[in-house]
Amino acid sequence: MSYTDLSVNIGKLHLKNPVLLASGTVGYGNEISKFTDLSKIGGIVTKSLSLKPRKGNPPQRIVETPSGMLNAIGLANVGVEAFIKEKIPFLKELNTTIICNIAASSIEEYVECTKILNPVDTINAFEINVSCPNVKEGGLIFGNDLNSVGRITEMVRSATNKPLIIKLSPNVSRISEFARIVKEEGGDAVSAINTLVGTSFDIWTRKPKIKNVTGGLSGPAIKPVALAKVLEIKRNVDIPIIGIGGIMNWMDTVEFMIAGATAVQLGTVNFINPNAGVEIVEGLHSYCEKQSIQKLSDLIGSFQL
Ligand SMILES: Cc1cc2nc3c(=O)[nH]c(=O)nc-3n(C[C@H](O)[C@H](O)[C@H](O)COP(=O)(O)O)c2cc1C
Repeated sequence: MSYTDLSVNIGKLHLKNPVLLASGTVGYGNEISKFTDLSKIGGIVTKSLSLKPRKGNPPQRIVETPSGMLNAIGLANVGVEAFIKEKIPFLKELNTTIICNIAASSIEEYVECTKILNPVDTINAFEINVSCPNVKEGGLIFGNDLNSVGRITEMVRSATNKPLIIKLSPNVSRISEFARIVKEEGGDAVSAINTLVGTSFDIWTRKPKIKNVTGGLSGPAIKPVALAKVLEIKRNVDIPIIGIGGIMNWMDTVEFMIAGATAVQLGTVNFINPNAGVEIVEGLHSYCEKQSIQKLSDLIGSFQL
């Protein structure tokens, strides 16, 4: 029996398989590495990095909701300098692709972060978070504005030759317009989706369960929304898509690939099963064999309407 080649290309970024771990759910890779073999997955995306360290929002920052969770972490991270000094040495030894996620509160900060990180060989690509719903500055103010997303893509593009992925917000009416501007301004790919804005109340205290009042909804609850956004981009813009949102197993992964995703990212599932990525790669292998799929490009965007 032939063994399916699971490798994929996201623009000029080569991945040994299409399963990535999503930003903010695996820190900088070190803690999760005790529970899974990171060399078996396609790659990891770091927690969003900003120019200076950030403490994030005060607790309560996460709460479970039906089929998902809300988070308002507020981009807590060590900052780019400490990341290079303290986190890169560990990441360098991992035999997997490292995608560095950047968040900022101004276009200049995105560019500055990219310039500082760009010379680091261990970083294989950048993912730009223009879609965090949990911060006052930046975040959705950028992610909901076509001109800002275009300008950020253009400016970051001029600061690096590494593969450039823009992570899009689902909190917009036409996500494909954002994907189109990313392509026009030189982005290599888009990832879709970040979390959806949500909230939840304690009926006894009548207070929000999240201190920030609103948070980002993730997990299986958002999967149909994420699939519809991936499909919308696939049908309207010729750009590689990394599908994200509620993926729990290999079947969800196949669904995203049929809708048009070249690769996927796993977020919330890592908190339930930190070995989910490896299990999904194995499940994808046997699905491809059973379906006689020789290469994944035969699966990507193969929906029948
Ligand atoms: C606790 C938590 C923290 C997150 N932090 C970030 C972040 O720092 N940057 C980012 O781009 N996305 C962040 N995300 C969003 C995820 O990367 C992903 O887009 C989202 O959770 C949807 O995928 P999922 O349903 O598989 O979790 C975070 C998600 C969670 C649950």
